[in-house]
Amino acid sequence: MPEPAPRPAPTATPRPAPTGAPGAASGAGPGAAHEPQGPPDPGPGAVPDRIALVTGANRGTGRAIRERLGKDGYTVRCLNRRSCDDHTDPVTADLGDGQAAFDGARAVLDGAPGLDLLVLNAVTRSLGTVGELSPRDWDTAVAVNLTANVRIIQAALPLLRAAGGHIVLMGSHAGERAFEGGLAYCATKAALRSVAEVLLMEERPHGVRTTLLNPGAISNLDDDFSDQKMSVESVAAVVSWVASAPADTVLGEVELRPARLGTPPAIGIDRLQHV
Ligand SMILES: NC(=O)c1ccc[n+]([C@@H]2O[C@H](COP(=O)([O-])OP(=O)(O)OC[C@H]3O[C@@H](n4cnc5c(N)ncnc54)[C@H](OP(=O)(O)O)[C@@H]3O)[C@@H](O)[C@H]2O)c1
Repeated sequence: MPEPAPRPAPTATPRPAPTGAPGAASGAGPGAAHEPQGPPDPGPGAVPDRIALVTGANRGTGRAIRERLGKDGYTVRCLNRRSCDDHTDPVTADLGDGQAAFDGARAVLDGAPGLDLLVLNAVTRSLGTVGELSPRDWDTAVAVNLTANVRIIQAALPLLRAAGGHIVLMGSHAGERAFEGGLAYCATKAALRSVAEVLLMEERPHGVRTTLLNPGAISNLDDDFSDQKMSVESVAAVVSWVASAPADTVLGEVELRPARLGTPPAIGIDRLQHV
């Protein structure tokens, strides 16, 4: 699995939580009660915009998901640490900070009548053995890969309920298959299965569907042309497909593998290319 080169972490610049947003009353937070709201009446003959929010959409798989959902007709909002190459995001947030993740989600969804699709894609890998992984890398992995997703879901839940929306959690084969040096990545991805299951139990009565999508190796870097990994466009097409499941169905968990199998060597994270 290709690992992106380390990049400098910019300063988080979330806007303050919009006080007018649903559920954003003073003191509102994860424990606050939110009344489900009905979607606004678009009027006769009008086709209401479908709104999607994608995290980590400035590069890699997230960028392809953003582009694909745009072609599908969604108005796509992004919650990124840095802006997309081709436009400036009005809100950016370092998802290593749970409050910034919550506030950023509220800010980027400001004014939206509902949220049809939430794709939680951003990730940090923080590779390192149990003996060597620094406390900081562990904390960052838990913050970005787990806590931020929960905080963004909590921020978006009133709008997801209003639209009868769909949450797609980007998991990984790493959530089920251990590899040496994968402590933080494997453990945080495994935890997403519990998040998805709880959401499936709690939120279907409110009309919100949840899918855990567990891909294998993806060629997420622009210069990776391996034919033994899935293209970002193909994974984005599966996200689109999952989100377009018939309204009385939900794909609770999807395991996705490259169609071509590499020649096994391998230890460490490369194991995940040979599933
Ligand atoms: N690549 C694979 O082989 C593979 C396999 C299975 C599953 N997946 C899953 O698929 C999803 C996408 O993977 P990918 O390989 O396409 O990812 P990627 O290319 O490594 O991109 C990661 C994204 O997450 C963002 N991000 C990282 N830390 C952040 C932070 N603190 N705050 C805000 N954003 C942050 C990055 O933003 P910056 O540009 O600011 O760093 C970037 O947009 C992930 O959930 C991953 O676990 C990937």
